[in-house]
Parts: sequence; C-alpha cells; structure tokens
Amino acid sequence: MDLFEYQARDLFEKYQVPVLQGLIADTPEQAEAAAAKIGGTVVVKAQVKTGGRGKAGGVKVAHSPAEAKEAAAKILGLDIKGHVVKRVMIAEGAKIAKEFYFSVLLDRSNRTFLSLCSVEGGMEIEQLAEERPEALAKIAIDAVKGIDLAKALEIAKAGGFDDEMASKVAPIFVKLYEVFKKEDTTLVEVNPLVLTEDGKILALDGKVSFDDNA
Ligand SMILES: Nc1ncnc2c1ncn2[C@@H]1O[C@H](COP(=O)(O)OP(=O)(O)O)[C@@H](O)[C@H]1O
Ligand SMILES: [Mg+2]
Repeated sequence: MDLFEYQARDLFEKYQVPVLQGLIADTPEQAEAAAAKIGGTVVVKAQVKTGGRGKAGGVKVAHSPAEAKEAAAKILGLDIKGHVVKRVMIAEGAKIAKEFYFSVLLDRSNRTFLSLCSVEGGMEIEQLAEERPEALAKIAIDAVKGIDLAKALEIAKAGGFDDEMASKVAPIFVKLYEVFKKEDTTLVEVNPLVLTEDGKILALDGKVSFDDNA
C-alpha cells in the first residue's frame, strides 16, 4: 500500500522533515480557497499513486487563487497512467536551486535495507538510473545500526554531494530513516529533495510504501 503524496507530507512533518505547507482540494473552488489561504505562488499537484505526474501535466504552478482554480480544473479528472485524479494538493511554491534524490527501502532479494542517493534528482531520475547508474549511489544499511549522522554523511557523499551540502542534507536523511523504521514502511522516497534559492533544504515530493501482508 502506498500513501498519497499529501499523506507522506503530513508524516514527514510529524518527524520534523522540512516540508512546505500543503492543503488538499477536491474541487476547483476548494483549490482557489486553499491558494488564497497559503498566499503567493502555489503549485497544484495531482494526488494519484503514481510517479511522473509532472511530465503528465499533473503539477502546475499558479500565481494567484484564480490561476490555482484554473489549474485544478485542468488537473482534476486527468488520467495519469490509468489513475484518474480526484484530489489535488495545493502546495506552497518553492524557488528551487537544485533537485536531489534520496530513498531508503527494504531490499527483499537481499533481505536488507538499502539507501539510494543522488545529487542529480528530479523528474529524470529513471533516465539517470538507466544511463548513468554510477550517479545513483546504492548503500547497504545495517538494520541494527540504521542511518545515524555518520552513515547519512557517507550516503550523501556517495551520492555526489560536496562536504558543505552533505552536512546540510545528512540530518534530513537521519529523520527520513526514522520515518522508515518507526512507521514500519518498506519505502521512503523523496524526489525531489531540493535546495532553495535562499539555502534551505526541503522535501518537495514524498512516496511512502507499506508491505500489504504486514
Ligand atoms: N512545491 C513545489 N514548488 C515548486 N516546484 C515544485 C513543487 N512541487 C513540485 N515541484 C516541481 O515539479 C516537479 C514534479 O513534481 P513532483 O512532486 O516530483 O511530481 P512527480 O514526481 O510525480 O513528477 C518537481 O521535480 C519540481 O521541480
Ligand atoms: Mg517526484
């Protein structure tokens, strides 16, 4: 079972993973009201349990409540890879400087935990994994030790972060591992984790999965 993005956002918030404000809406009017409440530039995001929403037209920037209403009207009802959009999330808009990738998952074949990380995250991550797999670090995680700050720094550096950026993202990796472990999930993925123009690190898109047989 996967969570919707807005549910993953709420869970991240509970664990002090830095996220932006997000409100759900089931109609264009609700989207307009949510955008007015958040204020400024927002992003209207399809809530469907599949990736690739951005490329499918399911993620739209809106500069006013009226634009958010229009964007929601376009996104609601959209079919994204067989998933019809019934709900959108109105998220605060971030000014993105860089997009990164981080995940921690249960590697069933090896009965171990694995963390994947790349300084080159975002919508092209599948392409990166195929064309330059070396740019996507895969680090085994000891189930007993988990991800402490030292391990998080190792993961960040393997993923291509320089020392300064590694020290910024590592504490967030530790928190994401806490979500993974304490919530008994099989996957916690953040893509993108971003650096904003004013130097903050934020989780802008999250995926959380659970074992259906658990
Ligand atoms: N709150 C936000 N503010 C600014 N840009 C965003 C925000 N959320 C997403 N984006 C942009 O849209 C892209 C796609 O959104 P994302 O949530 O990752 O959906 P998906 O992975 O399904 O395509 C992101 O890589 C990012 O560039
Ligand atoms: Mg994404």
